[in-house]
Amino acid sequence: MGLLEKIIETRQYLLSKIQQTPAIGLVLGSGLGVLAEEINNPVIFPYHEIPHFTVSTVTGHAGQLVVGELSGKLVVAMQGRFHYYEGHSLAAVTYPIRVMKAIGVQQIIVTNAAGGINPAFKPGDLMLIRDHINMTGQNPLIGPHIKEFGVRFPDMSESYSKTLITLAKETAAKNKINLVEGVYAGMLGPSYETPAEIRFLDQIGASAVGMSTVPEVIIARHAGIEVLGISCISNLAAGISEFALTHEEVMETTEKSKVEFLRLVKEIVAAM
Ligand code: HPA
Repeated sequence: MGLLEKIIETRQYLLSKIQQTPAIGLVLGSGLGVLAEEINNPVIFPYHEIPHFTVSTVTGHAGQLVVGELSGKLVVAMQGRFHYYEGHSLAAVTYPIRVMKAIGVQQIIVTNAAGGINPAFKPGDLMLIRDHINMTGQNPLIGPHIKEFGVRFPDMSESYSKTLITLAKETAAKNKINLVEGVYAGMLGPSYETPAEIRFLDQIGASAVGMSTVPEVIIARHAGIEVLGISCISNLAAGISEFALTHEEVMETTEKSKVEFLRLVKEIVAAM
């Protein structure tokens, strides 16, 4: 079965179980899935029950789609995402974004945990993603062009919506939430970077580094979805930090900054 036919089947399945279709999608990164627990009147779809969905394997990722109300808006949240380093194809990693588009999503908020490269950043900072650098050497659009999904050569000059960035900044200021801003470098992982790689990323203009988000944003832009990106700076990147990097540190920091993160995203959704 082709990708388009699969999407149509997944769409039918989801639409048969929800009353109204959400216009806002949330992709919740490592340690940030708790936001889905704040969704009211949720309809929960464990990934393994959704036709053609993949199942995520990283600890800290629950693996379910949650449709319901957040700040009075109907949203669909991915509680747990798929990563290329898990061995999934990029088609599988980005499948949920195409499904979101198919059920009517027009705006998404993508979130992740990232290592801070900008020396002014501290663990726990929330960073608005102004732009990204695709360092994966991969692209989810490689393959035959399926015109129903979008153009062959999509524009990426405003990958992260200026309107949503302004809205996020105003919302943060109004609610006294500290928000930094920068460029996200997307790596394949799963090994963390070497200090030399981090110096290189710094020189080419990256402020933070992580192992997700870029494929999803490419597919979202291809589909004409407006994107807002927020990174939780969970650690200082290799060589900037004097300590070795561990997934435990990443999870611990996101756990601590979770409260501010939840507050920020809820206020942004309210303002969208
Ligand atoms: N590097 C890559 N990915 C990450 C990091 C990091 O330092 N922190 C959280 N995700």
